[in-house]
Amino acid sequence: MEKYPNLKIITHPLISHNLSIIRDKNTPSDLFRTYLRKVCEILVFEATKNLPLKETEIETPISKTKVEKLKDNIEIYVALILRAGLIFSSSFEENVPNIKVQHLGMERDKTTKQPIHYYNKLPEKFDSDKEIYVYICDPMLATGGSAIDAIKLYVKDRNIPQKNVVFINLVCCEEGVQKIFSQFPDVHIISAAFDEKLNDDKFIVPGLGDAGDRIFNTFY
Ligand code: PRP
Repeated sequence: MEKYPNLKIITHPLISHNLSIIRDKNTPSDLFRTYLRKVCEILVFEATKNLPLKETEIETPISKTKVEKLKDNIEIYVALILRAGLIFSSSFEENVPNIKVQHLGMERDKTTKQPIHYYNKLPEKFDSDKEIYVYICDPMLATGGSAIDAIKLYVKDRNIPQKNVVFINLVCCEEGVQKIFSQFPDVHIISAAFDEKLNDDKFIVPGLGDAGDRIFNTFY
């Protein structure tokens, strides 16, 4: 997007079609999960386009040939913001090799709208001489509070370069995008939709409702 060079909204007829089902309030929880996963898979391929390759030689049954593989000296961290971010889990596990999955428990307080941290499966520091790539996943980017807290854990607390951090979501809006880039201008955001606004209750409009509750069918 021109205004935000590091924001990429992925457009594709299948994303539009799947989003039409995901956004519909009459879509039941099982179908909601199924269609969400379809979009997650496309986003995971887009988000991981920054992974570095190295050339190597192999032998096919016919001849020797040069091929490209992911570099060896890299480490890939997938941060799933609980609960809704869990929906990205299978797309990463099935498509990206050697990932380390790090769960971050955060829940947005119903009154203050600020994230409350309740779990964090991150080491104190990363003792690695490898180049680290981080993919932080949550279907929703609303006020940006949860995303910023998650990005901080990697960039500020553990010195991961911003350019190696990608925040992946399905639906975002100006408020959240603006807030992330005001603090972390060099991180990347990948999304399937840039929605109109937030309502007074800080829900994305038109959005898709409460992703966590719709995924896990926890309307009580
Ligand atoms: C939702 C959503 C994000 C956050 C977005 O989670 O999945 O984590 O709110 O809002 P923000 O950009 O304003 O921080 P929620 O608190 O509903 O938790 P859940 O995934 O467990 O349902």
